[in-house]
Amino acid sequence: MVGLGPRKPPSRKGSMADVPKDLLDQIKRLEELFTVPQEKLKEITDHFVKELAKGLTVEGGSIPMNPTWCMGFPDGYETGTFLALDMGGTNLRVCEINLPEEKGEFDIIQSKYRMPEELKTGNAEELWEYVADCLQQFIEYHHEGEELDELPLGFTFSYPATQDYIDHGVLQRWTKGFDIEGVEGKDVVPPFEAALKERGVPIKLTALVNDTTGTLIASAYTDTDMKIGCIFGTGCNAAYMEDCGSIPKLAHLNLDPKLPMAINCEWGAFDNEHKVLPRTPYDIIIDKESPRPGQQAFEKMIAGLYLGEIFRLVLVDLHGNPDVKIFEGQDLGKLKKAYSLDASFLSSIEEDPFENLSETQDLFQNKLGITTTKPELELIHHLTCLIGTRAARLSACGVAAICKKKSITSCHVGADGSVFNKYPHFKARGAQALREILDWTSRKDPIEILPAEDGSGVGAALISALTLKRCKEGQTAGIRDPEAMLAAAKKMKVKQ
Ligand code: BGC
Repeated sequence: MVGLGPRKPPSRKGSMADVPKDLLDQIKRLEELFTVPQEKLKEITDHFVKELAKGLTVEGGSIPMNPTWCMGFPDGYETGTFLALDMGGTNLRVCEINLPEEKGEFDIIQSKYRMPEELKTGNAEELWEYVADCLQQFIEYHHEGEELDELPLGFTFSYPATQDYIDHGVLQRWTKGFDIEGVEGKDVVPPFEAALKERGVPIKLTALVNDTTGTLIASAYTDTDMKIGCIFGTGCNAAYMEDCGSIPKLAHLNLDPKLPMAINCEWGAFDNEHKVLPRTPYDIIIDKESPRPGQQAFEKMIAGLYLGEIFRLVLVDLHGNPDVKIFEGQDLGKLKKAYSLDASFLSSIEEDPFENLSETQDLFQNKLGITTTKPELELIHHLTCLIGTRAARLSACGVAAICKKKSITSCHVGADGSVFNKYPHFKARGAQALREILDWTSRKDPIEILPAEDGSGVGAALISALTLKRCKEGQTAGIRDPEAMLAAAKKMKVKQ
């Protein structure tokens, strides 16, 4: 099977023989709601292509299509020592990355810090203090007693940001359930730098990076066929390399039209105006109850943060339906708690290897205190497959749209994130959807979505290295203060 792409998911046989009519009817209804047939995938993709282009215009559209000032791919020979800070959604990670002389190699040391839940809905000051504390701890731990010059830092800030420069980023809006007051509409770099300065932490921010751009660049460092970087995790998004001549909203800067520019699509915002995505009543509730209703329509149907919640909403709805007998006489207190189930709960159900779904039965018992019957388990299992399959198939529309827009007929797509890496069959289902959208008949898929290199760590370091390199070469477009950047480049080595 080598080279033939991900295999089709093995299917549990599962018998519907004993499933009573009310549950069978509901299974059928859910199938209709959640299945995205080939024709619909194609329609979504075609609309997506237009929206990608629209996002690049001066007027703009729903998809932000943010120019990132990451201007070109690595050649594999980037060198230096860099810090990377990854503020993705779930954890905070600090890394030190060494890019040695050897092509495509890297060494990395890293520490993870839990992102306290309260911080996600707290205020800006607390956020920057916490982030700076983590960086300070990292440096004190790994460089105790050393005299350090300023270390260049790539800051992976994985939220939509308008960047006039690579070391600048105005947060457009929080996503992934974050709701920290006093950050939206502001440049995140100055308060971050101020918090570092206050603590005397010797760091020079060289690049503010999105995780997708980092993924694109890190993957291209080791594989030159990589043309797109994707994240399918707590949130979802992609980046690709555009040429400046095809970005009308940058025309006023008179850049060489042939210069490359990585675009952070922020495709989670695709179809915010609800023209084409087949939303279910559950998607509508998710949106309404989220901190940012009307935003991230696509992301809310796909990303890990929402998969468990979609599942939960369906079950609660079925239980409340007088025509359906499900979880009768059971206490649904735990299931009724919003966001109490995450995507890993669904993964475990999909992975249940037993015909009688005994692992799922245990999960419901232990986590939710619900005793399930065999027909209920069949419905539950079916529902997770429907939700997971829809997410994978819709994701493929975004990948296909970028390929169509750029007339890419063959390439590798680097993907990272918990859903991509851990959700069962996500890769195979996505690959199948790509085949359906792009009408491939050949045995080998010309466009393959593959596990990426560490974008938020190695990718951020590479983007810092590329920025310093182009600055030295006199290509200073999109660098706020080239002099200061050059000074940082000169001091770059860590003194032992
Ligand atoms: C953010 C993106 C990010 C994606 C994956 C989305 O919610 O808006 O910036 O790339 O999540 O982390």
